[in-house]
Amino acid sequence: MTSRILTGITTSGTPHLGNYVGAIRPAVQASQRGNLDAFYFMADFHALIKCGDPARLQRSRLEIAATWLAAGLDPARVTFYRQSDIPEIPELSWILTCVTPKGLMNRAHAYKASVDQNLASQEDPDAGITMGLFSYPVLMAADILMFNALHVPVGRDQIQHIEMARDIAQRFSHLYGNGKERFVLPEALVDESVATLPGLDGRKMSKSYNNTIPLFEGGAKALKDAIGRIVTDSRAPGEPKTDAAQSHLYILFRSFASEQASDTFKADLIAGMGWGDAKKVLLDLLETDIAPMRERYESLIARPDDIEDILQDGARKARRIATPFLAEIREAIGLGKGMKPAAKEGKAAKKAAKAPRFVSFREQDGSFKFRLLSADGKTLLTSAAFADAQAAGQMIARIRACAAPDQCLVASAPQLNWMDEGRIAASAEAVSEEQAQQARQAIVDALRALNAQS
Ligand code: TRP
Repeated sequence: MTSRILTGITTSGTPHLGNYVGAIRPAVQASQRGNLDAFYFMADFHALIKCGDPARLQRSRLEIAATWLAAGLDPARVTFYRQSDIPEIPELSWILTCVTPKGLMNRAHAYKASVDQNLASQEDPDAGITMGLFSYPVLMAADILMFNALHVPVGRDQIQHIEMARDIAQRFSHLYGNGKERFVLPEALVDESVATLPGLDGRKMSKSYNNTIPLFEGGAKALKDAIGRIVTDSRAPGEPKTDAAQSHLYILFRSFASEQASDTFKADLIAGMGWGDAKKVLLDLLETDIAPMRERYESLIARPDDIEDILQDGARKARRIATPFLAEIREAIGLGKGMKPAAKEGKAAKKAAKAPRFVSFREQDGSFKFRLLSADGKTLLTSAAFADAQAAGQMIARIRACAAPDQCLVASAPQLNWMDEGRIAASAEAVSEEQAQQARQAIVDALRALNAQS
């Protein structure tokens, strides 16, 4: 249907070199190539989960928007917006929350990691865990499904979230799709060729390790200082760096240079270039790329109102799709516009109660009975009358406790008997021997399904 591409960046920090190389640059490059139907947005609702500092969040939104634009994103070619400007997204998120199994969310890596950390420090497993963190994947599913995106470029740590978005979409369509998929099922796009940059200490560059190299923040001086602090070993100038290909300086260099320039850099290290000189060469290379962007960034940051206008345009563009699509979704779930004449409960309701079940009721004469209903709501069995609700409940419990229902249930026209209790379980309709057998089989199947469930 569409090969729409969509990705978001959580606005909880200041973009660093790793964000640029891993996410921003590839997205901008993709948007410059040919015809691309791209949606890029700032996930500021997601940022609320990690960030409790309003000033920080406000600043991060501005910095990240300015970074996208400074890096060459053309808002006329893509749909560029801020998540919190699209009220349809949190609305869809709630709707999806109502079809998302809690058990699915229990398995989310980020949530599990928090629980594990709590357990390791002998805390309550849920200490410090908000519903926001727990429901994070549902909001992310809403981001993606709202626009029916097919390709979602993400880092490896986000693959599970895309799979969950697919699960949630399928679940929704199963309940409300009337036999059709309601959403395009998204796929994670993990670009193996995009480098994971090492940070100052050699571990993956990440805000949480406090080892990042700033992209624009602090200007040329901050970049120079950071490069000066990259950890190297004690080999002196003149000593060959035979393992140059693994060195952090080389990995950083390569992610900004042509293959040829990278080979020269590596060869120079092997030939004995000192780490200090290598850092100078690296800084020159980065500056060539970053300096012109930094200039644009600084002038953008100085005009926040212009950025706001761009984002408002983007929000209008996004909502031209989101508003009518959400109206369809609302219609499908029974929250359509206005009041309608009462209709019969539809398939969704029946599917929602997909399992066979026992229902108890009271007869006019005051006695208690129960029925066993099949998955699609047909009466498979109506019990005889019991004097009180407890006795009826006990019989249900006995039937449910039977591990081999086919052996407990005896069929003989015109009624079915629960083996050791003569008259207790009588099917309403069975008259012929054959019908009794069929009815018996349906009951056995239903009881097995029930057993399998519990
Ligand atoms: N969770 C993503 C991250 O932290 C950001 C994000 C939010 C996102 N919604 C999204 C990415 C939708 C892709 C699609 O990196």
